[in-house]
Amino acid sequence: MLKSITSCSSLAILRRSHVSSIYRSGVRLASLHSTPAIKREGLGDFALTDRVAIVTGGNRGLGLEAALALSTAGSRVVYCLDLPEKPGEDWNVARQNLAKLEGAGRLEYVTNDVRDQKKLLQTVEEIATKEGRMDICVAAAGIAGAARPCLEYTEEELEEVYAVNLKGVFFSAQAAARQMHRFQTPGSIILLGSIAGSIALKHTPVLPYNTSKAAVIQMARVMACELAQNNIRVNSLSPGYIETPMTTAIISARPEYQAIWSEQSVMNRLGKPHELRGIITWLASDASSFCTGSNIVVDGGYTAW
Ligand SMILES: NC(=O)c1ccc[n+]([C@@H]2O[C@H](COP(=O)([O-])OP(=O)(O)OC[C@H]3O[C@@H](n4cnc5c(N)ncnc54)[C@H](O)[C@@H]3O)[C@@H](O)[C@H]2O)c1
Repeated sequence: MLKSITSCSSLAILRRSHVSSIYRSGVRLASLHSTPAIKREGLGDFALTDRVAIVTGGNRGLGLEAALALSTAGSRVVYCLDLPEKPGEDWNVARQNLAKLEGAGRLEYVTNDVRDQKKLLQTVEEIATKEGRMDICVAAAGIAGAARPCLEYTEEELEEVYAVNLKGVFFSAQAAARQMHRFQTPGSIILLGSIAGSIALKHTPVLPYNTSKAAVIQMARVMACELAQNNIRVNSLSPGYIETPMTTAIISARPEYQAIWSEQSVMNRLGKPHELRGIITWLASDASSFCTGSNIVVDGGYTAW
């Protein structure tokens, strides 16, 4: 037993020294295994060098956080599409900070309503034409809608949520995928779902929101199956409760939700927007090249019970 442990660890040491000598001599480790070279500089496969991205709902919250992540990982430019005519303070601060960061890309803002399919298709086509490519789409525009018992929801309330969270997400993914196809660029599309798409939320009755997010998770699967032949990957990202203007507004009106939402998570807290940066970068980059049609849950263990 001792012998086998010793021989195992000497093998490990031998492997380590062999590998480092390979790096020193400039030979690519990959040649030993017939896999692409492991890039040790910078972000390696996570790098988004020269990529062009759009992020809907990019004026604030998780959309803006996604834009920051994509930009920091080296995207040439990230276009943030959102409703206000001018971007807000958070966006302006993010842009200023990125401008100081070596290797980070440009942040641009375009006023756009994801419910308007025709305008969205045109805007994204114009962006792709200007930049000569389209690589990444994060569909983060979304609304919570009213919270009330399911027996009381009106048609208008359902329509309001579905227009943004369901149709708007589809129009965004469709607009980006058309340009990825036009420019023959491999693409990654990330649809913001939610744990609310897979489970009911304890003490939070939001049927339209729940059902819209379930549709988003299914949308990612269906689009992934159709678009794989075009080298376009589509995944949904399902966060748990994260501190953003959306959730902060609800907690301000109903402070008891801070405890209700925290207690259900095994980490006993809400997440911070920056805790999604890693997963966004991974999904957008070549590091996730075999991942499509998946729903990635990042929820502090909320659904682990
Ligand atoms: N915050 C959370 O806890 C949480 C958890 C799971 C999923 N999500 C999802 O993440 C996404 C972002 O949420 P957030 O918390 O950052 O919300 P947020 O309200 O802070 O930001 C949403 C952004 O979407 C924009 N938007 C709304 N309707 C739009 C439209 N018609 N066209 C274009 N932009 C529009 C808003 O103006 C806003 O800037 C949403 O899809 C949300 O459902 C959030």
